[in-house]
Amino acid sequence: MTFSPLSRIRLGMVGGGQGAFIGQVHRLAAALDGEFELVCGAFSRSPENNRHTGALCGLPAERIHTDWRQLIEDERRRPADQRMQLLVIATPNHLHVPIAEAALDAGFHVFSEKPAALSLSEAQRLANTWRIRGGLYGLAHTYLGYPMVWQAREMVREGQLGRLRKLHVEYPQGWLGEQLEQQGNKQAAWRTDPALAGASGCMADIGTHAFGLAEFISGHRVSELCAALASHAEGRRLDDDGDVLLRTDQGASGTLIASQVCSGEENALKVRLYGERGALEWHQMEPNSLLHRPHKAPMRVLRAGIDQPELCQAARQRLRLPGGHPEGYLEALANLYRDFAAAIRRGDGGDVEGVPGMASGLRGMAFIEAVTASQVSERKWTPLPSTDESGD
Ligand SMILES: NC(=O)c1ccc[n+]([C@@H]2O[C@H](COP(=O)([O-])OP(=O)(O)OC[C@H]3O[C@@H](n4cnc5c(N)ncnc54)[C@H](O)[C@@H]3O)[C@@H](O)[C@H]2O)c1
Repeated sequence: MTFSPLSRIRLGMVGGGQGAFIGQVHRLAAALDGEFELVCGAFSRSPENNRHTGALCGLPAERIHTDWRQLIEDERRRPADQRMQLLVIATPNHLHVPIAEAALDAGFHVFSEKPAALSLSEAQRLANTWRIRGGLYGLAHTYLGYPMVWQAREMVREGQLGRLRKLHVEYPQGWLGEQLEQQGNKQAAWRTDPALAGASGCMADIGTHAFGLAEFISGHRVSELCAALASHAEGRRLDDDGDVLLRTDQGASGTLIASQVCSGEENALKVRLYGERGALEWHQMEPNSLLHRPHKAPMRVLRAGIDQPELCQAARQRLRLPGGHPEGYLEALANLYRDFAAAIRRGDGGDVEGVPGMASGLRGMAFIEAVTASQVSERKWTPLPSTDESGD
């Protein structure tokens, strides 16, 4: 039997210059399974940082651009067997839609950081472009790549919890407890600037992760909510903290708490679901365990591992190692890349199976819109705007 070498999928990246957070995580995750090769980038507006990052990634000078428009144009003109196939967008939020639209227009697939856009209407415009242009679009909700999140989702779908009554999701961080935006911290600066982050700070930055996780595992859609947002740091222009009551389309209720001023916390995303027949609990900082509390039976801890027979197929196919060899954040994002690679190799268009896409992007923006509207309305309980295909 002869084997022909599998060609790597050619990746481009905007953002992710030296000192940035998520761009490097994307590069590591994309490399994990050997499916992708970074061929070009516009990593930073700073020419020096840009050249340095490109050189560290082993790129030739002609594939490194300071202007992302030039990157897209240059790649578009290259022969089909050389040009990038998938563009990763790892910039602050205000650039997600302009870059995604330009990339889709030029015929490239897009893997964008969240939130999808600055506003729901901007996301709807992007959705229209995507529908017209075709191409794959994925959204980097990293937490939806964790195997035990898929296990939880499967158990809910199988009815192991019975009808769900309560959803509680919380995402406390502590790093914005200080006014870092006034101390030269670039990550804090853009996250607290409405022109660069959008109408919400904390809720857009991490509340959308919590929201997406709750909807993904439960299969419910939040139909209305009641939010109280706060800004604890003096002079901060956007929320850095918020508590939200939720009601879902299937009659469950619950809470979503997101905060970046919980001093002492790291990245403590956690979800709990309670149904008629029991409960599930998952902590992102202990991602290889899923707690199952059946009604009137002892709690059991399901553990990650390709050798764990109790796990469903969807969870096992997202694992690489036997139990007791911890997998985490990089592998979760790598799972989204692996699904992306499979979709590109199959020649799919539209949604990427296994990867959150435009629908998730629209839901996330509807959540932000409802949360900010609820904050200012007297009624407080606020329906989520529609994210129907028609865009109304
Ligand atoms: N999926 C996740 O778990 C996760 C985690 C963190 C951040 N994010 C998202 O990723 C995005 C980036 O966040 P971050 O924390 O990495 O921010 P960051 O500030 O660390 O990095 C942003 C990068 O974008 C670059 N950039 C800005 N403008 C540019 C331009 N015009 N052209 C080229 N590069 C440009 C900056 O130079 C920097 O390298 C945000 O949208 C954020 O919400 C997602």
